[in-house]
Amino acid sequence: MCGIVGYIGNQDAKEILLRGLEKLEYRGYDSAGIAVNNGEGVHVFKEKGRIADLRNSVDNSVKANIGIGHTRWATHGVPSKKNAHPHQSASGRFTIVHNGVIENYEELKQQYLQDVPLQSDTDTEVVVQLIELFVNEGMEVEEAIRKTLKQIKGSYAIAVLDEQNADTIFVAKNKSPLLVGIGESFNVVASDAMAMLQVTNQFKELMDQEMVIVTKDRAVIKNLDGEVIERAPFTAELDASDIEKGTYPHYMLKEIDEQPLVIRKLIQAYQNENGELEIDPKIVEALNQSDRLYIIAAGTSYHAGLVGKQLIEKMAKIPVEVHVASEFSYNMPLLSEKPMFIFISQSGETADSRAVLVETKKLGYPALTITNVPGSTLSREADYTLLLHAGPEIAVASTKAYTAQIAVLAILANVTAKARNIAVDFDLVKELGIAANAMEILCDAKDEMERIAREYLATTRNCFFIGRSIDYFVCLEGALKLKEISYIQAEGFAGGELKHGTIALIEEGTPVIALATQENVNLSIRGNVKEVVARGANPCVISMKGLEMESDRFVIPQIHDLLTPLISVVPLQLIAYYAALHRDCDVDKPRNLAKSVTVE
Ligand code: M6R
Repeated sequence: MCGIVGYIGNQDAKEILLRGLEKLEYRGYDSAGIAVNNGEGVHVFKEKGRIADLRNSVDNSVKANIGIGHTRWATHGVPSKKNAHPHQSASGRFTIVHNGVIENYEELKQQYLQDVPLQSDTDTEVVVQLIELFVNEGMEVEEAIRKTLKQIKGSYAIAVLDEQNADTIFVAKNKSPLLVGIGESFNVVASDAMAMLQVTNQFKELMDQEMVIVTKDRAVIKNLDGEVIERAPFTAELDASDIEKGTYPHYMLKEIDEQPLVIRKLIQAYQNENGELEIDPKIVEALNQSDRLYIIAAGTSYHAGLVGKQLIEKMAKIPVEVHVASEFSYNMPLLSEKPMFIFISQSGETADSRAVLVETKKLGYPALTITNVPGSTLSREADYTLLLHAGPEIAVASTKAYTAQIAVLAILANVTAKARNIAVDFDLVKELGIAANAMEILCDAKDEMERIAREYLATTRNCFFIGRSIDYFVCLEGALKLKEISYIQAEGFAGGELKHGTIALIEEGTPVIALATQENVNLSIRGNVKEVVARGANPCVISMKGLEMESDRFVIPQIHDLLTPLISVVPLQLIAYYAALHRDCDVDKPRNLAKSVTVE
């Protein structure tokens, strides 16, 4: 989703901003822009489309040491040059980039800006016009910004330039992520650390309703009453090479291949010196004290949550409900007496999940966040965090985060079971190791996955994924992967549910990918495959060794039946990847999608 960068120092701001925006491309965007102040005026360059288009439009003769930049994912107003950020105030004195949604922008327009002709359809422009209005009424710039922020309802991360002050970037945030990066004789601003690792790994976190006065030598954090807040910087534990593609054609393929390594890293991260799995006892105690767990997540993380429910209920014997975050706030179920909330989020920034966290915190319930991003909003605001240790996931389509989420949930379930004196009849460390090896074998089966994608999906307009029990959850994920990157209409269904309506969609040649990894439902899913074949479907059965039949298209190695999602998803990820390639789709940056969905 929208990304922000800013730079003030002694170097050419344009290049640092453009490189920063390139690092934010993965978040998803439809237009981009930068603004720099060379002391003689603010120069704005913006374009609909890719950063590469923006680069081509930038006037290289403009040299400036201060600037801000933005990638926009449209919410208010279509993707266009006019609506792309930065936006400027009526006189051109103030220039802003903004991430988030100003919920009351219509009211603010009516109340304050009836006489100001607006240049764009965005909610953002209202903010920069208000700042100018208050300055014109006699306020100092900082005070005018504070007054503006106090009028705003909604979420924002903003960076503002004042044409009359080429030494300062004014920055503020509420609910949307923003960091200030600290350097020697320069400072930077970024939606996430990756954008500015090129120049620093020292960052200061910002809390909601804080602003920062950023000059090249200082970054002074204040609250909205103007009081200074001291905060030490932290070191981003990221290596610039973690965010490069290396020899891979796409991040998605690299991240699929990284999955075995991530599982092995996780085993180490959650093992104590005796080789036993260990989790902060406070977290385990919190789970133990609760009578029901509520998993809240979106998209792929929601699918991991469905698997997590099985793992926790089967191992730790605590009842679990799994909810789509965007529905939960508006349709809260009757809660148990002692609920605990588990937020699963790769980015840790998903606004829908955060809305639930804010709500449940108000009610005083304990919260655990399982995330890939230390220091992310969901991590900071929950009582406890478990990290995924998957390294940066850049492709919009989540792959390694999904399997890491399942592995962490398995570890959590296992450790909690032990704390509850419930015997678990398998050695999870050993079984995760076996799963990692099996993943490696599957990652090596790329040629076969490419063939399957070509054979079944090259020209189809739809595809069904069917499975039963835990396989059904993986089918949901397989279908999501396929639709988000190849744009094929794909649906995941519980095998037994097809005949209650969806089977009407099966036509001659419709591809149906069936998973068969669970012994107790093997015969039932085989029956469902027969039902669709009888109606003309083109079946592709992916089964697990030991359950295979002659007509199966692909057989995955045998692993513990509770952990099969860790490996059965790999062929589905690869099939989606190759289907997208065959259809000439932009695998890493699919249309309309954002990596980090920071608006509700
Ligand atoms: O960062 P999160 O895990 O909270 O993101 C949730 C979803 O937006 C995300 O999983 C999305 O569905 C992915 N693009 C799926 O590949």
